[in-house]
Amino acid sequence: MKKLLSVDDLSDADLFRVFELATDFKRSGIPRRRKGNWVLVFLEPSTRTRLSFERALRALGFETYLFTAEASSLKKGESLTDTFLTLRAQGFEGVVVRTPKNGLAAELEGVDLRAINAGDGTNEHPTQALVDAFTLREVFGKLEGLRVVFVGDAKYSRVFRSGVKLFKRLGMKVGVCGPRSLKPADLSLLGVDADFTSVDEALEWCDAAVFLRIQKERQSVPLITSERDYLKLFGLTPERAQYLRRSGKFYMHPGPVNRGVEVAPSEVYGKNSLILRQVENGPFVRAAAVELLYGE
Ligand code: NCD
Repeated sequence: MKKLLSVDDLSDADLFRVFELATDFKRSGIPRRRKGNWVLVFLEPSTRTRLSFERALRALGFETYLFTAEASSLKKGESLTDTFLTLRAQGFEGVVVRTPKNGLAAELEGVDLRAINAGDGTNEHPTQALVDAFTLREVFGKLEGLRVVFVGDAKYSRVFRSGVKLFKRLGMKVGVCGPRSLKPADLSLLGVDADFTSVDEALEWCDAAVFLRIQKERQSVPLITSERDYLKLFGLTPERAQYLRRSGKFYMHPGPVNRGVEVAPSEVYGKNSLILRQVENGPFVRAAAVELLYGE
């Protein structure tokens, strides 16, 4: 595999290998074993994903270059495919790509670059799903049979779409909870096991909950009426966080968090929050994902 654009690109052996490598990197450090140049093509804002890829690639020995939309010829109407072909001709060997548009396969078709999807529109974000599964595996010791519920804006979330696919592959049960306006229409097609409207029922059902950011930038009309009501209805209030702690359950958020909307400010880094653990694991898992593309 030279391109990781979707969770579907990963074989069972790849999944096993990513977890094994990431565990090893976390324990003993990321080995400086590569040479060459990668470009981080980020056409949407990012903090965690970009920097964790940059950390991972540099730790492996690569040099990294940042490419953003504003200062590039994309502004002059150049296509993404022509951009990739240009990067290849300049001698780059890999790209990490984040784009507001769904789908990257067509743009990279026939382009001889290694590539990782770092989030394409509302479609997929495979390495975030790997980071989340790796984090859950660390905390619970195993994934098989684990119940995870996604709470919030599943409709516009690429973290959700990659997460469902990956978690189901790993034998986990997946639930969804949120207002009807933020639920994807194809829940059963995605293989979701449980569909909740009550967040309290969802938290009772799960072993871990993933709170998802309200993706305002992808909604043409506001889909929630009030942010304060949203926390009460679907967010992690201090009472709900207390319930999770008492029950030995955990919660995550891929970030960035809208404090006071998806998660009460006091609970973002509270006990049983895995939010910083997800961030901490990012570079190790992403270094492992890059290594997969080198086939060893
Ligand atoms: C997510 C993304 O960009 O898809 N963030 C991330 O990569 N950690 C989630 C989000 O923006 O809400």
